[in-house]
Amino acid sequence: MRIVIINGPNINLIGVRETAVYGQVSFDSFLASLQAQFPQHSIDHYQSNVEGELINKLQEVGFSADGIILNAAAYSHTSIALADTIAAIATPVVEVHISNVHAREEFRHKNTIGRVCAGTISGFGLESYTLALVHFLSRAS
Ligand code: DQA
Repeated sequence: MRIVIINGPNINLIGVRETAVYGQVSFDSFLASLQAQFPQHSIDHYQSNVEGELINKLQEVGFSADGIILNAAAYSHTSIALADTIAAIATPVVEVHISNVHAREEFRHKNTIGRVCAGTISGFGLESYTLALVHFLSRAS
C-alpha cells in the first residue's frame, strides 16, 4: 500500500517542542522505526507549516495514494479550506493527534476537519500514527 503522512505546523519540532505534551522522540526517528516495522508498504512523509502547501500536497496525492494520515495540528481547529480539500479528494484521510485534544484547552475541542475524515485518533502519542496505519492495512486485507 502507499500511505502518505502529512503533518502540519510545528510537527517538525516534535521531540523538542513541549516535550511534556508531545514526548521526546523526533518525528523523523519515529518515522524511520515505522518504515522499518512495515517494510512491505510505502510510507511517505510531508510536513509544512503553511496551510496552502498542505492543501497542495493533499490534492497531489489524494487521487493516487491508498491512505492519508493527516495531523493538521492547529489547522484542525480552524481550517475550512483543509476540510474542503479532504472532501474533494478520493483517498480516505485519517486524522491523528499526538495529544488528547479533548483533554486540553477548550479551543482544541473545536474541529473543522473531522467531519470529512474517515475517523480520528487522538491521544496515543506518536502511536496515533501507527494505529491509523494499522487501520489502512487491515482495511486492505
Ligand atoms: C496536535 C494538537 C493540536 O491542538 C496542536 O495545535 C498541535 C498538535 C497533536 O498532534 O496533538 O500542533 O495536532
